[in-house]
Amino acid sequence: MTAEYKVLGDVAVITMTNPPVNGLGFSTRVGITDGLAKAIDDPAVKAIVVTGAGKAFSGGADIKEFGTPKALQEPILLSVILALEASTKPIVAAMHSVAMGGGLELALGCHYRVAAPGTSIALPEVKLGLIPGAGGTQRLPRVLGVETALNMIVSGEAVKSELLAAAPGQKLFDKLSASAESLFDEAVEFARSVAGKTGEALPLVRNLPCKHPQGDAYFQFAKNMVAGMSKNYPAPLQCVAAVQAATQMKFDAGMAEERRIFTSLMFTPESLALRHLFMAERAASRIPDVADDTPQRAIKSVGVIGAGTMGGGISMNFLNAGIPVKILEMKQEALDRGIATIKKNYESQVKRGKLKQDKYEQRMALLSTTLAYDDLKDADLIIEAVFEELGVKEKVFKELDRVAKKGAILASNTSTLDVDKIAAFTERPQDVVGMHFFSPANVMKLLEVVRGKLTAKDVLATVMTVAKKIKKTAVVSGVCDGFIGNRMIEQYSRQAGFLLDEGALPQQVDKAIEKFGFAMGPFRMGDLAGNDIGWAIRKRRATEIADMKYSRTADKLCELGRFGQKTGAGWYDYQAGKRDAIPSKLVNDMIENHRKELGITPRKISDEEIVQRLVYALVNEGAHILEDGIASKSGDIDMVYLTGYGFPIWRGGPMHYASQVGLYNVAESMKRFAKNPHDDAAFWKPAKLIEQLVAEGKSFS
Ligand code: NAI
Repeated sequence: MTAEYKVLGDVAVITMTNPPVNGLGFSTRVGITDGLAKAIDDPAVKAIVVTGAGKAFSGGADIKEFGTPKALQEPILLSVILALEASTKPIVAAMHSVAMGGGLELALGCHYRVAAPGTSIALPEVKLGLIPGAGGTQRLPRVLGVETALNMIVSGEAVKSELLAAAPGQKLFDKLSASAESLFDEAVEFARSVAGKTGEALPLVRNLPCKHPQGDAYFQFAKNMVAGMSKNYPAPLQCVAAVQAATQMKFDAGMAEERRIFTSLMFTPESLALRHLFMAERAASRIPDVADDTPQRAIKSVGVIGAGTMGGGISMNFLNAGIPVKILEMKQEALDRGIATIKKNYESQVKRGKLKQDKYEQRMALLSTTLAYDDLKDADLIIEAVFEELGVKEKVFKELDRVAKKGAILASNTSTLDVDKIAAFTERPQDVVGMHFFSPANVMKLLEVVRGKLTAKDVLATVMTVAKKIKKTAVVSGVCDGFIGNRMIEQYSRQAGFLLDEGALPQQVDKAIEKFGFAMGPFRMGDLAGNDIGWAIRKRRATEIADMKYSRTADKLCELGRFGQKTGAGWYDYQAGKRDAIPSKLVNDMIENHRKELGITPRKISDEEIVQRLVYALVNEGAHILEDGIASKSGDIDMVYLTGYGFPIWRGGPMHYASQVGLYNVAESMKRFAKNPHDDAAFWKPAKLIEQLVAEGKSFS
């Protein structure tokens, strides 16, 4: 059992003991009801305190139980709360640190609540596409008022206990303790002050009134507001409906309504996607063959080579986390330019009120520069972000091998080069790893951690921890061309090209995939990132891709000098100083002429086909990536696409989405695409992994 029971004189104490956050798993729930039964049976006990050990009162449902039969095994949380409410002896919740979700609902079932200042109070279920399901929507409005409660339930955001305690008329807390340290003693003392009360004298949240003075007019307003902000997600509006039910129905009817809504949301694609994301994010930091307790190297200072676009952004991440950075460049001018860009970025944050002036100064004080490699001899981690040429990387890594201290981690931000080759430039390949940031590196969440053949396990473990410190979502990728993200996007781009050859125009392709939910379609994206980048890569790999079928339209576009927004023209036309993509007659004519050259009679292509070809191209390549062991789990691939490539969050990433569509259906579509004479039949042969999962009736998850 993960709850402890003890008696202190006339007060029984039930303590949840399920680290890390006292999740309300089966064994904790049983622990609470068992303790309660003992307390009620013991004539010496006059009052009961419920609290949590360690770092939380309770963080709510136990994520390890998510979606398993254990979650539904009695006593379920609703039953535990009913048992608390039915207690003939007063129960005091002693809340500290974190009281969220089911944890808060549990406390709302107690007769009294004493909280420590600084406790985070939240009902975050909406973030998983759900509403609170154990009375939160019915009880919270009764203690905080409809508006405050609704704001908390719709946003899922945490509010500090002292803020809530200060609200006039609030009934959430009976007392705020003087400090976190004194909470327990004060809660026991409070319990003694109510000892002996029983029956009607014991207050229950369910008996409090629940009304909004403007009634339905307020809820109409709330629905309009919420609908506008939550277009792809059904849960926020359902939060409003559930709270409205609390104001319109008797308590038990309101509870039934909450349950009905909760159950209806359980299997929405959005909730499934959000819960997948929640789990995949946590799972991404775990590497199958690297134990959780692998000893790590201390990273107290960082060196960055190259003060260009990436070097500057990478440096900012560490400065933001309070870690000193020394940037090395070849020339003073390059250093000056890089530092000026960093300053400009921070100053714009200060101007927009996002960063305090003194914080800005603290961060800049952590930054130093050098032109000499010897100045990097004390750095614990050195990240290289110089030009993307193997020869340049060779020089840099040989220098780093010469000066870096023993045990320093040497990382490359390369996006296309072979990390094993880079590692081989040193005498310490075990210390070399890829840290592939995305641009702008100070903003984008994704970090691909590229594991070389010889990368040491403690280097990987350390880099994953560093990633967390700088607030990145890190995903481990093996070494291959493009790693996880760009290897997949190449197939997606290839499909986008074929679609043009066959009859679509850039604006149609972009619109279709943006309607599906991508932040930006492939052609607008190309114009933003620069079409010349892909062109350069294709030229460099000309020999490798000689046999690969791909559309030449992108090359033709680049031959016209239309690199995108930076040259004022790309797939689209742009007006000076504006970013609006205007369909281009010249480009559309170019595409049409190219079709004629190829002898293709254009056909009308449906938006559905566009979306399927683009997304399933990601899926098939993703499956190959799993087969090759480049990614260790499909959730990692989803994390890459959700955090780095603008895949719609509410669809859960390409692999999750394919599982939802059904791999059988996905494979059937692939086989259909393979018959298209203008496409690449070899590519559309479903990956073995997909065939195998279909045969076994399974999905990626
Ligand atoms: P950049 O051209 O903006 O910056 C490169 C900087 O490195 C320049 O300031 C240059 O003076 C400096 N540099 C070149 N050789 C050097 C040497 N031997 N020693 C010291 N400094 C040297 O390039 P960017 O875009 O920052 O890219 C850097 C690396 O990051 C490349 O490997 C690139 O593939 C990778 N990358 C770029 C992304 C992007 O979107 N720009 C995204 C992810 C990775």
